[in-house]
Order: sequence, then C-alpha cells, then structure tokens
Amino acid sequence: MKNPWMNRMAPALRAALVTSALAGTAVAQEMEKMWGENVVKLRATDAERGQLFDEGNYAMFIHWGLYSQLANKVDGKTYYGIGEWIMNKNMAGIPIAEYKELARTFNPVKFDAKEIVQLAKDAGMKYIIITSKHHDGFAMYDSAVNDFNVVDATPFSRDPMKDLAAACREAGIGFGFYYSHNQDWTFPGGGNGPGKDEDGNRATFDDYFVKKCLPQVEEITTGYGPIEIVWFDTPGKMPKKYVEQLVEVVRKNQPNALVSGRAGHGLGDYQSLGDMEVPVENVEGMWETVDTTNDSWAFAYYDENWKTAKTILERVIATVARGGTYMLNIGPRGDGSVPERAATALRESGAWIHKYPQVVYNAQASPWEKALPWGDVTVHENSLLLSVFDWPVSGKLYLPGLKTEVKAAKLLIGGESEPLTTSVENGWTVIDVPKVAPEKLVSVVQVDLAGAPDVDPTVGLDPNTTTTILATFAEVEGATLEGRRWMEKFGEWKHVDQVCDWTAEGSAAWEVEVLVPGDYAVDLKYSGKPRVVWKVAVDGGEVIQNQQNASPNYQTFPIGWLNFPKAGRYTVKVSCVEGSPEKKPTEGYMEDASLSSISFTPVR
Ligand code: GLC
Repeated sequence: MKNPWMNRMAPALRAALVTSALAGTAVAQEMEKMWGENVVKLRATDAERGQLFDEGNYAMFIHWGLYSQLANKVDGKTYYGIGEWIMNKNMAGIPIAEYKELARTFNPVKFDAKEIVQLAKDAGMKYIIITSKHHDGFAMYDSAVNDFNVVDATPFSRDPMKDLAAACREAGIGFGFYYSHNQDWTFPGGGNGPGKDEDGNRATFDDYFVKKCLPQVEEITTGYGPIEIVWFDTPGKMPKKYVEQLVEVVRKNQPNALVSGRAGHGLGDYQSLGDMEVPVENVEGMWETVDTTNDSWAFAYYDENWKTAKTILERVIATVARGGTYMLNIGPRGDGSVPERAATALRESGAWIHKYPQVVYNAQASPWEKALPWGDVTVHENSLLLSVFDWPVSGKLYLPGLKTEVKAAKLLIGGESEPLTTSVENGWTVIDVPKVAPEKLVSVVQVDLAGAPDVDPTVGLDPNTTTTILATFAEVEGATLEGRRWMEKFGEWKHVDQVCDWTAEGSAAWEVEVLVPGDYAVDLKYSGKPRVVWKVAVDGGEVIQNQQNASPNYQTFPIGWLNFPKAGRYTVKVSCVEGSPEKKPTEGYMEDASLSSISFTPVR
C-alpha cells in the first residue's frame, strides 16, 4: 500500500487508528480502502455502480415462489431436483390451470423481511437478489401488468418485495431482482409456455414480450427504489432485439444497476458462470458464480444436504481467490420462513467474515491462479492473505514458488496478530506456525511482501498434506482433455475436467516441485469400467504400474508409492495401459477410463 509504515503497525493499533479521530484522514481512508473496511462499512446507497458486486464479492440469492409451498412433493409423490422447476415436464409436469390454483393457498405469514436482511448482513453478504418472476410466470410482487401475482392472486395479498427492498435500504445492503425474461410457462407466448391464449388464439413470443415481460421489467425497475442488479436468466434463443430493449429499460430506470451475464447475446455487464460452479483456475474480468446452501434453489422438503459454515467459507474464499463474486442462495419455505440449518451456517460463516473482512472484501485473486493444497490465497496490494483450511500440525506452512521477498509474516487472530518467522528453502517459503490453529473454521496468515506478488505457479508437492492436481492442469498427448458437466439430480449441476479417449501412447503429464524428497503415495481419481491398468512414471525416475477397479462415478484408487530422490522439479506422466479386459483396446482406445485428478501424499 502507499504507506508502508502502516503495514508494519499491529493490526490492533492500525484498527484503532482507523476508527480513531484520525478515521477521517487520508491515511485512515487509505487503510480502510486497502483492507476492504470501506466495503464492510459501505452502505448500498453510497456505493458506486457495481462496487458492491466487484468489491463486496459476496451476496444472497433467494428463490421463493408458489413452488416453495409444494417443496417438491405433488400428490404425495416426491420429485428430486431444483424445486422451482416442479411445474415443468422434467419434474411433476403440472398442468397450467392446476398450477395456477396454488396461488389460492399461498399465504407466507412467516415471511419477515427484516429477519432475512439481518441474516444477509450477519452472513457478510453485500446485497440480495430475489426472484420477482421465475420461469413459472408467477410474480412475487404487486404487478399491475398481470394478475397472476402475490397481491392479486393469493390470500397474502401484500407485496413482500416492498418490505424486502425497504429493509435492505434501511440496513444499507443492496437489493435486486431475478427476472426470467425468456421462459414463462403460464403466459401465452412465453418461452416454453402455452402457444395459445385463453380464447385459443395463437400467441407469439412477441405477444408475451409486449404484454408481460417488457412492462414487468419496467415495474421492477421503477417500483422498488435503487436496484443493484437485474438478474435475467436462461435467455435461450430469445432474439437479441428483445434483450436490447430490456437492457435499455434497466439503463433508463436504474443507471446504477448491473445486468446479469445471463441476459443473453453478451449484453450483460459481467460474466455469469454455470450453476453451482466454483472455477478451479482464475477467470479474468468481472464475473460471478451462483451456488446454493443445499442442492436446490427453491425449498425442497427432502433436501437436507446443507453446506457447513466451513464449506461456505471455502467456496466464498475460493471464488474470490479466482477473481470473482459468490452469490449464495437460500430457499425460504412456502410459509416464508428460512430453513434453520441454512441460517445457522450462514451466521457462523458470516461471523468469521466479519472477523477477517480483508480476506473477502476488496480482495484480489491469487497469484498462484489455483488453490493450494492447504487452502487459498487472496491479495491486498503487497500483502498475501493465506486462508488455511487444512492446518499443518507440523508447525510449518509451505508456500511454493513465491519469488517476491517476504518482509514480514503474521498470524491473524481477529483484530490482533502475532509475528511469525519465515525462511526460504529451495525456492519454497516456509512459515513457522503454532501447531494448533487459532480458528476452528479457517485460520489466516498474512504475508507482507517487498513488492507486488510474483510467483512460479508450478504445483508444489506439499510436505505435510495431500496435494491433488486436477486434470485441468495436465499436458495431454494421445488422449482427450475435456470439460464435462452433468446434472446429478435435475438442475443440480456438477462440473469436472477429465482425460479420456486414451490411446496406447496417450499420457497426462504434470510438472511438480518437490521440497522434501522421498516416497509419496499416488492415488488416481477416475471413472470407467473395471478393471483398468495405470502406469505412473517420474521422467528419468521410478515407474509404477497397477491394476485397479473402476466405477461409473469418479472414485479415488491407490496406485502405489513413487519416489522423488531429491528436491527439485520433476515431470510425472500417467498413462492408461489397459482398459477393461472385455474391451480390448480397439485401435488402441481405452474409451472407458476418465481421469479427473492425481494425488500425492507424503509417506512418513
Ligand atoms: C438455472 C435454473 C433456474 C435457477 C437458476 C439459478 O437457470 O433454470 O431455475 O433460478 O439456474 O442460477
């Protein structure tokens, strides 16, 4: 930062200065800017356009609608997958008239806007994006355009979005709407909706757009005060001219608002990644990833697969460390209440974020451009913030490839810190840390550098813990490296990079740095048909081979110990030498084995 002497100051004193009478001075403001304090304290109304997104880095997504009261059970049958699709033929396939009847019983008396906003604040989230109209076409706000909405069609007959927008404004956090601009399953002409109107006349997309979509986007961008983002979703084949008109409405009514990356035709203000995807390598530019506290966006009665506070922190920190913003979803029940387990994990992870705001807010991406074996790194100018998920009981934390001189290292303990000694061994920075982690969830080591961080991103085999290297980072010959995504349950997306289509000469190779020579147990994670023979070779060194089982899911199997005789750089090469016996390699192809990662665990 511009005032290096402030760097050396103990954070407690620095924090005192920042909040002291000097708080208004340029120095303290500079401090606040550096550590993200300005974002922690920044109220939505004071934020510049996109500042909460680009510096806040963490937000709440809410999926809540008529579907929430079904909670994935229809006529006693449970449907597994994302709950807001329950009406769709991929789930329960509920006829339009029957689905619309649901409005008669929607009465979310337990909805408490202030409680939800307080939860977002406690979680450390900087804004809330909530479904104003999802693919089912039901408006969760008071729409004068179409009476299939929460005020005109339900006994609740109150506009919860007015309450939520007001509560956000009062609390100083941002507010915005999700709007499904293409799909509308109940309005004539809507995407994947009815092709005829109530009188049996043919309805076109233009009919839907002019009669419902465009005027509703006008409503949500004029009736609820300042909007942070209009989060359009699933543009499908929606013609560009329509998306352009919607963007124009947003620009006209909400010049400070961002348009989501899923508007379509590249007309969004940033890139939205695929659902539930935390990227494994840095992504350039402004982007977000959206995830959910369990496996469904909308409430699903069976879905108790919640993310723990530690998992939430790992995914928030990983997203910020890759350069992005993480928007995490809650799915309130039909009665408006928030699942308690989601709220508890959000509060526990939020308490940590409020203790270490600099790790998340206004933080930059890791110079290693991927996760490290023990955790991840976010950056503030010349300071690295090492978020350690897997604490080294050895008392030594290993940082490979750091080329910039270390000026100081300290263990952060809330607003306090204690100095740590560092040394350099064969290009690795070794930090002496207490054997017991100061934090239950994630502990943070701050490393102040003599200049901007410069690292060699070659993967280092950690001397303490397992180092897993993804297929993503392999050099592949005579095989195919491909990204794969699939739905575990309907709408529950998974992502993996894999090496497949192995030929007899095929290989996947990785360069690795070894600090501590010796034996490392090698495991491979792959899917395929039993049994598979793998070969793992150290260039110029030991070669091991083993036959193991295989499963249609990616599973990890031990291959054996591999020796690295001295510290230094090696190339490790994996090849698939035999596929399942009943599938002799036709033209040398073992089309079954799909390798997703290799792991090295020091044998001690
Ligand atoms: C997908 C789903 C939609 C959900 C969205 C969340 O687009 O279709 O139901 O709201 O993901 O990102």
